[in-house]
Amino acid sequence: MPLLAIETSCDDTCAAVLDGPRILANLISSQTDAHAVFGGVVPEVAARHHLELTTPLVGAALEEAGVALDDVDIVAVTAGPGLIGALLVGLSTAKAIAAARRLPLVSVDHLQGHVAANFLEPEPLEPPFLCLLASGGHTLLAGVRDHFGHGVLGQTLDDAAGEAVDKAARLLGLGYPGGPALERLAAGGDPAAFDFPLAMTREPGLDFSFSGLKTALVYRSRELGPAETEARRADLAASFQAAVVGQLTAKLGRALGEGEWQAVALGGGVAANGPLREAVGELCEEMGVRLKLVPIALCTDNAAMIGSAARFAPALEYPDYLAYDAFPTGKKRADGPISGDIGPKSAHRPAV
Ligand code: KG4
Ligand code: ZN
Repeated sequence: MPLLAIETSCDDTCAAVLDGPRILANLISSQTDAHAVFGGVVPEVAARHHLELTTPLVGAALEEAGVALDDVDIVAVTAGPGLIGALLVGLSTAKAIAAARRLPLVSVDHLQGHVAANFLEPEPLEPPFLCLLASGGHTLLAGVRDHFGHGVLGQTLDDAAGEAVDKAARLLGLGYPGGPALERLAAGGDPAAFDFPLAMTREPGLDFSFSGLKTALVYRSRELGPAETEARRADLAASFQAAVVGQLTAKLGRALGEGEWQAVALGGGVAANGPLREAVGELCEEMGVRLKLVPIALCTDNAAMIGSAARFAPALEYPDYLAYDAFPTGKKRADGPISGDIGPKSAHRPAV
């Protein structure tokens, strides 16, 4: 049963074709160059690029998968959270493809998509597990007890880890996107050169905070002055990265210390960071829990993860989804599960 998935929540246009947990095609058209000149994602520019790229990318994904559009059985799409204009392009495209063929449609929560990247082949990870999600828009510890959703055990109180990394990269003159560039610069620096704060590690609980760290970098750079900041960019990058990794792993360690979780997974763009992957690897070894690391292409935004989440979410039958809308911000639920919430009309169709 081929499933077509579309993801356009931010600045990557993504289309994938799945057969159950097997990826037949997973294409990403990055808009990095279009946004780099502005030093960050411009929502309107993102939406306009999605408009041009989504349909050809869907065609390319189907071709790579060897699946004709008429053979697709079900369509999945990210409905939120994300940039509203960007989301609407993907949702409208998915609705049009599905409606023309009277196919069912599954709307997926982007964060549950990051969790569900772990359900894909090869070696799908079975719940329960603890998932550290760190992206440009979100940072949270997700308790994954089944395939259908996750509970939020802790989350950032201000900036997301990726947002802080991107701002630090900008301050160090690295441009956009900041994460990979900061990691490369940090590789040549000393992580112990500067003592950046490990926020929230003294307070109880599993929440994160990254805005103080960003401010600490601004002040340190002011103290050093432009010439010294320039000369010590690699040390600043390495020390900043160490503080981000330190806070993420400290909270992960605290959650594991509670003893409930025997397996850990990482998700979101920041999970592509080498030192974070290493540090989490060491922590899991120390704590005697299993670590599942999906390939980097499945950590950053992609449509295969959206298709994977859709397999466990209820689908809407035609024409119920025609009035269904995208949502820009996540519904904050401290205790309940977040899943591919499809609004009032739900559970019309079993999972694929
Ligand atoms: O999940 P994602 O692709 O998009 C969102 O949903 O936000 O995450 C993008 C974020 C950006 O902030 C980017 O700088 C960060 O992930 N990122 C990294 C690395 N690669 C991407 N951060 C640190 N190290 C990396 N190698
Ligand atoms: Zn994401």
